[in-house]
Amino acid sequence: MPRKIIIDTDPGVDDAMAIFFALCSPELDLIGLTTIFGNVHTALATKNALNLLEIAGRGDIPVAPGASDALTRPFAGPVPAVHGADGQGEVNLPAPTGKPLNISAAEFIIERLRAQPGEITLVPIGPLTNIALALRLEPRIADWAREVVLMGGNALAPGNASPAAEANIRNDPEAADLVFGAGWQVTMVGLDVTLRAHITPAHIADYAEHGNPMSAHIARIVPHYQRYYEANYDVGGLFSHDSSAIAYLLAPELFKLRRWPIRVGTRGLGRGKTWPATGRRILPEWEGRPLVNVCVGIDGARTVDLQSERLRGA
Ligand code: RIB
Ligand code: CA
Repeated sequence: MPRKIIIDTDPGVDDAMAIFFALCSPELDLIGLTTIFGNVHTALATKNALNLLEIAGRGDIPVAPGASDALTRPFAGPVPAVHGADGQGEVNLPAPTGKPLNISAAEFIIERLRAQPGEITLVPIGPLTNIALALRLEPRIADWAREVVLMGGNALAPGNASPAAEANIRNDPEAADLVFGAGWQVTMVGLDVTLRAHITPAHIADYAEHGNPMSAHIARIVPHYQRYYEANYDVGGLFSHDSSAIAYLLAPELFKLRRWPIRVGTRGLGRGKTWPATGRRILPEWEGRPLVNVCVGIDGARTVDLQSERLRGA
C-alpha cells in the first residue's frame, strides 16, 4: 500500500519540486496539500498549490489554506529575491481553475488523522504554524500521525535565514518548539543534509529534456532560484531542500540519523535555531523531550539522482 502523506507547503520553487517528486513516486499517496506563509504569503501559497496540482494533472487532490501569521507575531513577509515575487521564479502563472477547501489546514489535518489513525505521515516543508495549531486544537493528533518528516532546522550546520537559523524554523520558532516537543516521532531533514544535496546545472538542463508538464514547469521556475544560489553560495546550480524530505520517505537508507531531543531558540540572535542536546548530560530545558531523528548524513548525489529519475519517468 502506498504511504499516505499530507504536505504542508509554502510553494516556493523547491516546494514545487518536492510536490512533483512525491506525485511521481508510486510509493507515496499524496492525500492533500495544506498551505502556509514563508516563501510567499499564504493566499499566494494556496494559489500556487492549486496550480501545481493542475500542472501535474492532479486537480483532484484537496488544498486546505493555512495560517497567515505565526503563532506569536505577524509574518515578516517573503524574500522575493529567492523564489520570486510569485514564489514560482517570476513565471506568473494564470489563476488556477480549482478552489481550496473551505476548512483550514489545521482542521483538515485533524480530520484526516482522526479518520485514518496511524496511516498518515505529515510532511511539513514550510514554517510549522499549521502543525502547531492542529496540535493545540487536537493534541491527540500526536498519537494519530504515523510520523512527521519535516524539512527544516539546522542541528550542527549554520543557518540560512540568519547565521543562527534555518528559514522554516525562523518563520515560527514557537510553533517549531511545540512540534519538536509533542509525543510523535519527528524526523528533521535540515540544512545539515540539504546543503549537501546539490542539483547541478547538468541536472537542471536535463529537466528541460524530460518532456512532461511537471519537469517543464521545473525547468521554467528554477533559473530565478538558481541565480540566487549562484550569487549567494558561489556554487553552480542549487540545493534540494524540500525534496530531501521526500527522498527520506522513499530511501531512508540514503540518510544517517542521530537521535537527540531538540529545543528551538525563540529570543535574540538565536531566534529560530534548533538546538539538539547532543551530550550525555541533559539540561532541564531538554529534560523529558522526545528524541527526534536528526538527519546528519546524506548520499546527496543519489538523493538528487533519485528525484531526476522519478521526474524523467513521469
Ligand atoms: O530553508 C529552506 C526552506 O525554506 C525550504 O522549505 C524553502 O522552500 C524555504 O521555505
Ligand atoms: Ca518550503
